[in-house]
Amino acid sequence: MKKCTFSYDKSGLINKDTLDAVVKDKNITQVISRMREALTQNYVTDYASLAVPFDKKMMHDAVRMAQEKQALIPRILIVVGIGGSNLGTQAVHQALFGRFYNDNSSLKIYFLDTVDSDYVAEILRTVRLALEAQQAVLVNVITKSGTTTETLINFYTILDLLKQFHPTTHQKYVVVTTDSQSPLWHSAHAQGFSVLEIPKKVGGRYSVFTAVGLFPLALCGVTIEQLLEGAQEAVRKGLSDNLEENDSLVSALLLYLHYQNALTTHDMFLFSLDLEGVGKWYRQLLGESIGKEFNNHGQRVMIGITPTVSVGSIDLHSVAQLYLAGPRDKFTTFVTVQTNKQSITISEGDGGIEQKRLCAGKTFEQVMDALVKGTQVAYLESKRPFCIFMLSEKNEYCVGQFLQSKIIEMMYLGYLFEINPFDQPNVELYKREAHRILGC
Ligand code: PA5
Repeated sequence: MKKCTFSYDKSGLINKDTLDAVVKDKNITQVISRMREALTQNYVTDYASLAVPFDKKMMHDAVRMAQEKQALIPRILIVVGIGGSNLGTQAVHQALFGRFYNDNSSLKIYFLDTVDSDYVAEILRTVRLALEAQQAVLVNVITKSGTTTETLINFYTILDLLKQFHPTTHQKYVVVTTDSQSPLWHSAHAQGFSVLEIPKKVGGRYSVFTAVGLFPLALCGVTIEQLLEGAQEAVRKGLSDNLEENDSLVSALLLYLHYQNALTTHDMFLFSLDLEGVGKWYRQLLGESIGKEFNNHGQRVMIGITPTVSVGSIDLHSVAQLYLAGPRDKFTTFVTVQTNKQSITISEGDGGIEQKRLCAGKTFEQVMDALVKGTQVAYLESKRPFCIFMLSEKNEYCVGQFLQSKIIEMMYLGYLFEINPFDQPNVELYKREAHRILGC
């Protein structure tokens, strides 16, 4: 079953008429036609990332590279990158393969993002052991700018190790994913590494369906066609004039309108452990895209929706009290999964000392479903607004559709708030300071 469905509480403050009024008032058809244009142009506008799921060449290049590197029979894949360069891949990988992938797979994957000595040292130790055992280790370094400090330091550290074991052939174990003409692009070509390019106009957090995500995911066995088909479906729906089928637009309108009513936090409450990475990917997408000091007219607006990630049912025992009783400053998106990969039925027990077991005969899914529904009733009763995305399954299609629908939501939010959702000018400040302190 391939479906990702969306619904929202129509009994709340914001109903269909309110949404229709904003669509008209804000002239949403204008942004929809700009988005549609981006589908026919070759990565020239800010909405370029909408064309990515339809780009057959990009897909084939990434899949071909994965097949080429699979021939080396790799046992470890190290993905070096940070922020938009690795969160999407982690999100898709975790959603599809779960948390025990490395225990059960012949190809293990490790994500190297920050420069945490203890974490990096453990990865280096694991890589060294594999190399000593003559196992192939692949390194995929991903940096759009080709200049990110953490990424380059991690990359050159792991490269040194590769060179120790493959002094003359280390190049074939490295794939560089970056912008054409970036500093790393030049040095990768000079050193003979394989290179995959990211289209210039597709920003880091919008790049999961470019080579950034496709190459490592294909290598791990993700069915890329299905992932992109789901994303394509989200584009078709997200560019529709019909509000009934445009989930991305409705979701953006709900966030925008609640923000006007001082609901400035958006909690993504995911009722599946494997979707936590999706929540973290979305946190970056919303935080970095919409948190802006100035609007498009140069006025200081200091706009921003604070993204939070909660995981059900764990966080019902952690922050639900706050959510149900605390300040009315949050809008919630519940993300649920209809059918899991595996089913567990609660047994009757063996009739021993135990009394009849709690929920015997029911499945874990039924219990989770009751917890989800109970939570939503509690939210309704305490007048906490929410919407629901339900993935029929954690498969490529649904995950692709969900991520792409959120990417489009961000474009609508940028338009509604009249800010640029594609840049991140203020983070340059800490980077400059760090470089000054390091003197390099
Ligand atoms: O979404 C973004 O643009 C950022 O989060 C970047 O992905 C992040 O800063 C890493 O940048 P780069 O890919 O240039 O190394």
